[in-house]
Amino acid sequence: MEEKQMEVVPGLAGIPAAESAVSYVDGEKGILEYRGISIETLAEKSTFLEVAYLLLFGKLPAESEYKKFKDDITYHTRLKVKILRMMELLPENGHPMEYLQSVVAAMGMYYPAKDVMNEETRYWSAVRLIAKMPTIVATCERLKSGDAPIQPNNNLSFAANFYYMLFEKVPDALTEKILDAMLILHADHTMNASTFSARVVGSTLADPYTVISSAIGTLSGPLHGGANEEVVHMLKEIGAKENARPSIERMIEKHEKIMGVGHRVYKTKDPRAKCLQSFAHKLFQNTTGKGKILEIAEEVEKVVNDKLASKKLYPNIDFYSGIVLQEIGIPTELFTPIFAMGRVAGWLSHWLEQLKTNKIYRPDQKYTGLHNQEYVPMSERR
Ligand SMILES: CC(C)(COP(=O)(O)OP(=O)(O)OC[C@H]1O[C@@H](n2cnc3c(N)ncnc32)[C@H](O)[C@@H]1OP(=O)(O)O)[C@@H](O)C(=O)NCCC(=O)NCCS
Repeated sequence: MEEKQMEVVPGLAGIPAAESAVSYVDGEKGILEYRGISIETLAEKSTFLEVAYLLLFGKLPAESEYKKFKDDITYHTRLKVKILRMMELLPENGHPMEYLQSVVAAMGMYYPAKDVMNEETRYWSAVRLIAKMPTIVATCERLKSGDAPIQPNNNLSFAANFYYMLFEKVPDALTEKILDAMLILHADHTMNASTFSARVVGSTLADPYTVISSAIGTLSGPLHGGANEEVVHMLKEIGAKENARPSIERMIEKHEKIMGVGHRVYKTKDPRAKCLQSFAHKLFQNTTGKGKILEIAEEVEKVVNDKLASKKLYPNIDFYSGIVLQEIGIPTELFTPIFAMGRVAGWLSHWLEQLKTNKIYRPDQKYTGLHNQEYVPMSERR
């Protein structure tokens, strides 16, 4: 039997999977834009909820539109008592990403959203998902530490409320700004694995809770989220600025990967890393001793520039995000869930875009198996 002549591209690298107007990356120049606006501008001037609106609806909201969207989100941050009970019954050693994926999938039973072509259904599902994910993550952390969950505080901003639900205290202004910017910087990044997953599941007209839980599952893999934890670990191991050069040179000699360095798309420094580095400077401004980890990181960056620029390897978002999150007291297990709390805005935007011109994903394959094989009875098999 003759097989079709096809070339398989591993990982579909470089193959456009959809037309999209949500975000744009220029990996050579180090540009990332959401709906045409640079990430640096948004991280400095905007808020996560405004950015979520921009991504979802394609334009910056007018004042009244922003107020309504913000109020809708703020008044949907609570979890149903049955969801809380369900979370209490999940294993304490489960990872927060597993909690998040399970609870988001279960939300589909409480907030039926099968009619995905209905605009109201789509809007309220997006509101509920963005609103409740921080509550799920904070609740999970509290339960795992044996503490009672804290109800959301509607008087606080989106980011401050997340911090409050975790630590039962209101963050200072810089911590609030950094957490909010962290969500903005993670909110979308063109056609990555989890976004593709959201679009594939969305293309079957599955409900949005199923769409987002599949995206969360995709993000949970170590090749997608998670390198920031390893960066913090690596910098702690290096231990001092003067150890950075010999340690990194040794790693390069041994062909070990430097965590938080290199990117499939960026062939220069990731613009999100630049934003987080400047936040790190603000954060460590008054903390001489604790600023050591930032000094080590910047020394590592210098060595990486000297030794790996020829391979176009530069710091990516994870290089500075772990340092910043750790310094504001966020437990390492929550680094990837926080990524998901931001990225849900992007996943939902791609889902909405997918539904506009939907065609179910059904790629082809290049068959490499056998044909015309005999069915051997079990008693004769060896
Ligand atoms: C992100 C990443 C997977 C991109 O990979 P990629 O584009 O497929 O690049 P490759 O893995 O094919 O690497 C290309 C070359 O650069 C080297 N390289 C890539 N990342 C490196 C790193 N972090 N440290 C040292 N060398 C690295 C590879 O060894 C390879 O070298 P070679 O050509 O001499 O064999 C990769 O850079 C990486 O693993 N980085 C560390 C993990 C990380 O920070 N992930 C978060 C990404 S946001």
